Amino acid sequence: MSQYIIEGGKSLCGSVRVQGAKNSALPILAACVAVGAPCVIHNCPELSDIGCTIRILRSLGCEVHRSAGTVSVDGSCITDASIDDALMREMRSSIIFLGALLSATGEAVMSAPGGCDIGLRPIDLHLAAMRKLGIKVTERHGKIRCTCKRVRGNKITLSFPSVGATENIILASVRASGVTTIINAAREPEIVDLAMFLNSCGARISGAGESTVIIEGVERLRSVQYAIMPDRIAACTYMSAAAVTGSSVIIEDVIPAHLVPVFSTYEQMGCRLEAAGSKIRITAPKRLSAPEIIRTMPYPGFPTDCQALVMSAAAVADGVTFINENIFENRFRHTSELCRMGADIRVYDKLAVVRGVESLQGACVNATDLRAGAALVVAGLCAEGVTTVNSIQYIDRGYDSLEENLTSLGARIRRND
Ligand code: UD1
Repeated sequence: MSQYIIEGGKSLCGSVRVQGAKNSALPILAACVAVGAPCVIHNCPELSDIGCTIRILRSLGCEVHRSAGTVSVDGSCITDASIDDALMREMRSSIIFLGALLSATGEAVMSAPGGCDIGLRPIDLHLAAMRKLGIKVTERHGKIRCTCKRVRGNKITLSFPSVGATENIILASVRASGVTTIINAAREPEIVDLAMFLNSCGARISGAGESTVIIEGVERLRSVQYAIMPDRIAACTYMSAAAVTGSSVIIEDVIPAHLVPVFSTYEQMGCRLEAAGSKIRITAPKRLSAPEIIRTMPYPGFPTDCQALVMSAAAVADGVTFINENIFENRFRHTSELCRMGADIRVYDKLAVVRGVESLQGACVNATDLRAGAALVVAGLCAEGVTTVNSIQYIDRGYDSLEENLTSLGARIRRND
């Protein structure tokens, strides 16, 4: 089993370029099915989840070529509207193919998606929205079957601004007859990236990034070349790495506006942040201060994907931090691993109370999901001695060249495959 071996206590310096956003790339690659014409997607990160998405695209009959950050997808030759159970289980965002396939073929057959175990992650909002769009949804023997002659636009009010449900509605409606209005849509930057991609293909989507999104269905979409936006969660990972090691690091190829929800947390910890163009410099103090309270919320609130990363920093900060996880019910599994490294963290249901300690000690720990794994790497960078992070296949889902990037900043980290 692959692992990272980290020798902690090295301070970091220099600059690091942030990869393309995983959570944008996955829906945009799936969207190529809805486009139904050849598209070239640039700035695609090298991730196992991208590999899984490509396998799904090929299984549906798409022609896919991948080379150095560019993925070309020809979605004009779909031969199958069903996704194999094994592929669905590999990755949560496989569910995004639901809307894309319905747009392209009026049919989609799949089982419930798998992915990181961070909570129940139901898809009831996705399916209720599909029904509202005139799609017949049947669930039998563990399979979901969706069919329709043509998707019909409608008004859909989401009871929670789910990112995946918003994306599925956009994808299903993009070539529908009539207009679809999503009320209480997710406002994450990844929704904006998906809408910008589809609009560049000729779609008519307005309001992405706001609570009301309007999709006027169009007959057909056209080929484009498109570059995926930078990954705000990867950026936050490097910010945490700089913070825990008391370092000054420049993070390049970011959209600083996307990071505003986390800026104040790092500032409360005593870090200085300077944003200019597509770069951010973070300069951390010798000892961080506890940021007191962090509540994960839908965008523009504090992102749940950054919660574990900031917890590693809070673990060595001076003072007590209260972390309230409001999005996923099983997203504190990194706490017991951090405690193995000497952290003082208690979890009470949705609340983690982190009492900062002077220092962490290297230990053998397990990545339990993608961001939990990244948080343990961050903790290892500042721990005394050697940290071994096992099960790094979770980290490979979302990070391109993590060890190379950290090594170039001066960290001692190596991969053992
Ligand atoms: C996406 C991101 C993930 C991020 C999350 C929240 C991708 C590939 N993944 O996941 O990294 O952590 O947004 O920002 O973009 N819910 C329901 N019913 C549904 C759908 C969701 O109850 O049908 C609940 C979920 O259980 C969860 C909450 O809504 O409690 C948020 O989920 P959602 O926004 O849908 O997250 P994902 O799209 O799965």
